[in-house]
Amino acid sequence: MTHMGCEGGLTMKNKEIFLEKVLRFGHHEAIAVTVGESGEPHAAAMGVRLIRNNLVMYPYINTKTYRNIQAGSEVSLAFTHNALVFCDVVMRPSRLRFKRGRRQSTFILDADVDFYIEALPKHIVLEDQRALVFMSVAEVYEGVREYFSYSRANSMLIEALVYFTKLRAYRFKSSLLSEDAKEWLNALQHSISVVKKLGSSELIECVKLICEELRDLGVVVES
Ligand SMILES: Cc1cc2nc3c(=O)[nH]c(=O)nc-3n(C[C@H](O)[C@H](O)[C@H](O)COP(=O)(O)O)c2cc1C
Repeated sequence: MTHMGCEGGLTMKNKEIFLEKVLRFGHHEAIAVTVGESGEPHAAAMGVRLIRNNLVMYPYINTKTYRNIQAGSEVSLAFTHNALVFCDVVMRPSRLRFKRGRRQSTFILDADVDFYIEALPKHIVLEDQRALVFMSVAEVYEGVREYFSYSRANSMLIEALVYFTKLRAYRFKSSLLSEDAKEWLNALQHSISVVKKLGSSELIECVKLICEELRDLGVVVES
């Protein structure tokens, strides 16, 4: 089945129409794959927005993704609804498989992906701890999408991973948590409880990995 309506690839105009449709809800979540200085692919979950035919990504400046882009890496973006793909990227990176993208110097994530974009960073604006990376779109094509129906547990696992990565980057220097960290913990707790109540064993498995790593950081999450 083809979702883009043309087998032989998309013309530039069709690409624009396709992107305006699939990225129309504001901030979308993707897996960004960049290439490190020794040529190895690096995957990280990142938010992306479409602004006037350009893609904008918002990496914190202390991320490897940002360092790779600064050093000249192109970016591939994998768009998926599957929380287990996000789980592998955040919690089990050794499981990730990559393959070559359409562009010579690009790697893409080999996983359950709806569609890929290969993008070229053009312009960076620094804003406090984040960078706004403006990118032009070079390639857009389908992945091996696996269909599944909407699941709250699946969505909440992605939410849990968002708050977990914030806490992972947070320096637990004192036992007194900042207001931000308290909010993230509450949100994480809520998302975890929904996954546990409504999710399948493979989704709950990921929650267990989150709880184990939090415990190692000295944070105990009620279950
Ligand atoms: C769904 C999701 C979206 C995320 N979006 C961003 C983002 O827009 N910018 C960012 O710096 N980190 C974001 N993160 C956190 C990073 O993926 C995580 O901290 C990552 O390990 C840091 O990047 P690095 O591996 O390149 O150092 C997100 C995490 C998830 C689970």
